[in-house]
Amino acid sequence: MHKAGELAARILDEIADHVFVGQTTGELDRMIENKVNAAGATSATIGYKGYQHASCISVNHVVCHGIPGDKKLKDGDILNIDVTVVVDGWYGDTSRMYVAGKLSRKAERLIQVTHDSLFKGIEAVKPGNTFGDIGHAIQTFVEAQRMSVVRDFCGHGLGRVFHSPPNVLHYGRAGTGPVLEEGMFFTIEPMVNLGRPETKVLSDDWTAVTRDKSLSAQFEHSIGVTADGCELFTLSPAGRFHPTWG
Ligand code: MF3
Ligand code: CO
Ligand code: CO
Repeated sequence: MHKAGELAARILDEIADHVFVGQTTGELDRMIENKVNAAGATSATIGYKGYQHASCISVNHVVCHGIPGDKKLKDGDILNIDVTVVVDGWYGDTSRMYVAGKLSRKAERLIQVTHDSLFKGIEAVKPGNTFGDIGHAIQTFVEAQRMSVVRDFCGHGLGRVFHSPPNVLHYGRAGTGPVLEEGMFFTIEPMVNLGRPETKVLSDDWTAVTRDKSLSAQFEHSIGVTADGCELFTLSPAGRFHPTWG
């Protein structure tokens, strides 16, 4: 989990310098695929339920599962890049936000709240707490900022498989759901919208967008529960997890 998580995070570090106005998401994806291969690892997403790319790249009002393509990034576009790699049979899954050109004030606020909501969830990860405690921490924080938490997609167990139980909801009631135990591995990956939480999937059967076309952001870490808290497998080696951190 350490090796897989570190590789996924390092690839997201390295791709940051290649996000700029005029760049295409397809080119970013090709660079990501090359980096996965150069590391002797495997992409978890190529061939997953028919998906054909090494990353999901979700621009502006795309909530998740954006398909890389030929469209050029424009000034002020915000994007989530989500990479999952397999190293020695173990999965590392992480995503973070980037900006092409100048970050608008409202997008910056959305990105900050989404980032901080992930860490509110992470603070609730320790043995004896429940998955409902994680969702509750995220939801109450986001809604206090008058933004909304997407309900239609969730985090997931992972390890030697990509997606395993439990569903890690980013909303919920404290004290509900399965109890966290030392040694559990899962992701937390909140999607936060500036407008309403509803999403729809486009006719390509992958791209999920906000129904009201409002901006959406997401951050994701792969996490292990330790005796007294948790460990993040996908910490950024270069300290570039957030788009304003260089
Ligand atoms: N990496 C995504 C997640 O966080 C899953 C992408 S599946 C794909 O779970 F097929 F869309 F790539
Ligand atoms: Co995930
Ligand atoms: Co992911």
